[in-house]
Amino acid sequence: MKIDILTLFPEMFNGPLNSSILKKAQEKGIITINYINIRDFTTDRHHQADDKPYGGGAGMVMKVEPVINAYEAIPKNNSFTIMLSPQGRKFNQKFARELSRKEHLIFICGHYEGIDERVRQLIVDEEISIGDYVLTGGEIAAMVVIDAVARLVPGVLGDEVSAEEESFSDQLLEYPHYTRPRNFRGLEVPEVLLSGNHKKIDLWRKKQSLLNTFFRRRDLLKIRGLTKEEKILLWQ
Ligand code: ADE
Repeated sequence: MKIDILTLFPEMFNGPLNSSILKKAQEKGIITINYINIRDFTTDRHHQADDKPYGGGAGMVMKVEPVINAYEAIPKNNSFTIMLSPQGRKFNQKFARELSRKEHLIFICGHYEGIDERVRQLIVDEEISIGDYVLTGGEIAAMVVIDAVARLVPGVLGDEVSAEEESFSDQLLEYPHYTRPRNFRGLEVPEVLLSGNHKKIDLWRKKQSLLNTFFRRRDLLKIRGLTKEEKILLWQ
């Protein structure tokens, strides 16, 4: 998957997208990420990327020409352009899965009061919000979306994990995880996890997932529903 990020602050991405799993994915060539500084595509002497809003009001608005120039300089044939904004479609796991099937994603990160409306009209395929709160810009939101999408691209995690993602763990919260030591300050690892009985372990984990989701996020269960077997497991 190819990812291009249009931003006025490329340095913000240093670190989060170049560590751990995403670093490996880039080293393996499964994902390539390019940063494009919108300021490099300004045409005036002062390299001005923002300007006062028509009609007056507080703050500055990102200018249309540098964003469109930057966008047009990207080689593309089958790309999907995303703009991050609190007005967008709410991001979730299903949406991440949809995006993980795209070949080429282009992210436009707004800053200040926003971006000239004509950017959206001309090049944006989808506007995405990561939640009902306002960030100082789209950069952190883009990182959230890229992280969630990239881990679903085949080969980024082990194949087992991605297969699991599609099936039961879908829309359920995680079960609790443990590693050594067996006893820490009197807190014991559940006996079943030491049993070596994988059928029993899978059932225990699924039950914990169901319980976690039932007590913490009943809204998720209402959308997803429960199979007959899951209802029995939850209440037995
Ligand atoms: N830019 C500012 N706030 C945002 C949000 N909640 N989601 C996506 N982009 C944003």
